[in-house]
Amino acid sequence: MDGLPDCLHEREGELCCEGVRLSEIGTAVGTPCYVYSETAVRGRYAALAEAFVGAPCRVFYSVKANHNRALLRVFRELGAGADVVSLGELIRARRAGFAGADIVFGGVGKRVDELEAALAEDVFMVNVESESELRALSELAVARGATARVAVRVNPGIEAGGHAYTRTGHYKTKFGVAWEDAEALYELAARLDGIEPIGVDAHIGSQIFSTEPYRQVLQRLGELAGAIRARGIELRYLDIGGGFGVPHEGGAGIDLRAVGDAARAVTAEYKLTVLVEPGRWLVAPAGILLARVLYAKNLGDQRYYVTDTGSNDLVRPSYYSAHHPVEMVQRAPATEVADVVGPVCEAGDFLALGCEVPALREGDLLAVLYAGAYGFVMSSNYNSRPRAAEVLVSGDRYRVVRRRETIEELMAAEELDD
Ligand code: LLP
Repeated sequence: MDGLPDCLHEREGELCCEGVRLSEIGTAVGTPCYVYSETAVRGRYAALAEAFVGAPCRVFYSVKANHNRALLRVFRELGAGADVVSLGELIRARRAGFAGADIVFGGVGKRVDELEAALAEDVFMVNVESESELRALSELAVARGATARVAVRVNPGIEAGGHAYTRTGHYKTKFGVAWEDAEALYELAARLDGIEPIGVDAHIGSQIFSTEPYRQVLQRLGELAGAIRARGIELRYLDIGGGFGVPHEGGAGIDLRAVGDAARAVTAEYKLTVLVEPGRWLVAPAGILLARVLYAKNLGDQRYYVTDTGSNDLVRPSYYSAHHPVEMVQRAPATEVADVVGPVCEAGDFLALGCEVPALREGDLLAVLYAGAYGFVMSSNYNSRPRAAEVLVSGDRYRVVRRRETIEELMAAEELDD
């Protein structure tokens, strides 16, 4: 690979996260363990903010990418808002110190209690995804004498993004309302009691490397906002969602300045504030998953390294065929090709197939890179495995920000007769 991600560097033949040796964390905290770099997160946020300088813009960190409250606090401190998609994420964001006014509530299937909570917290904006949801929100708002500020999430018919499951801007997916229905829905929103339409919204997908889809979505949403305004409905915000791509092989990734240029042009033309909801771009390169080699073996010519982490902790390699480089913590040149796999009882349980690695020994520590986004949050207890610990490094200090689950906790909610 070209280089290490933002959160890592090599010192005296060993991988370190900021000033802390990964081997120290591996020994003290145990494996598997997610390790995040606070400095890397801050650096990513500053770079993102810089790309949009000059455009009226607000950043709402997408909590789904990594919901650990220690990280949420960092984003709040940096001045970000939070983009949430469930009651759980809303409560997390509030507990991490975000005010209701700093929260955008999105998601394709909000329950009544979730809409109620959005109203109770008086969130900045609710992104609604159907006429029925809009009507439900109106009724709930009227019942409590509140007003919900809303955007309608429109499906702009733009196909962009990485894996098919992360492409959300075209009609073969469930997201948003049809482009051709949007204006009528804004007419309805303006008439409904308890509803104040304030913005237009789209999120076209995730792992997008080209700036062109963003140019298109900005332009189209700007035009839509203009058309809606012509009907006498004053809109102020243009929410383009998240999706900024992060390469896992090193390199720069999406040209955020070019997206910023498009945002500067459209916000000036339509007098709107642009809202962005990045998740992955801010946290993926700031985190790794630390694991240990349990066993080495051969099946015929195929070399396998079985580790103590797998698809239960990081599902992305098997679910999206995502490439997450696996690096040895004690540095050594790659000398062989092997499959680095997990302990889960599924043939699809792997970290990296055909991976170039040094000859590994049992007990060696490995770092799985670009695991700061959609890593821990998508982990499961499959095979009754407790979820991994999470560690936050700041300078030459680190702390456990979520301890490893215990097996007792996994069974605690089960209700048996005896
Ligand atoms: N806003 C909305 C409405 C979203 O649905 C998402 C992601 C984001 C913002 C943040 O997108 P990001 O900047 O992180 O790309 N589990 C998949 C990614 C799913 C993304 C879902 N929505 C993965 O591991 O690749």
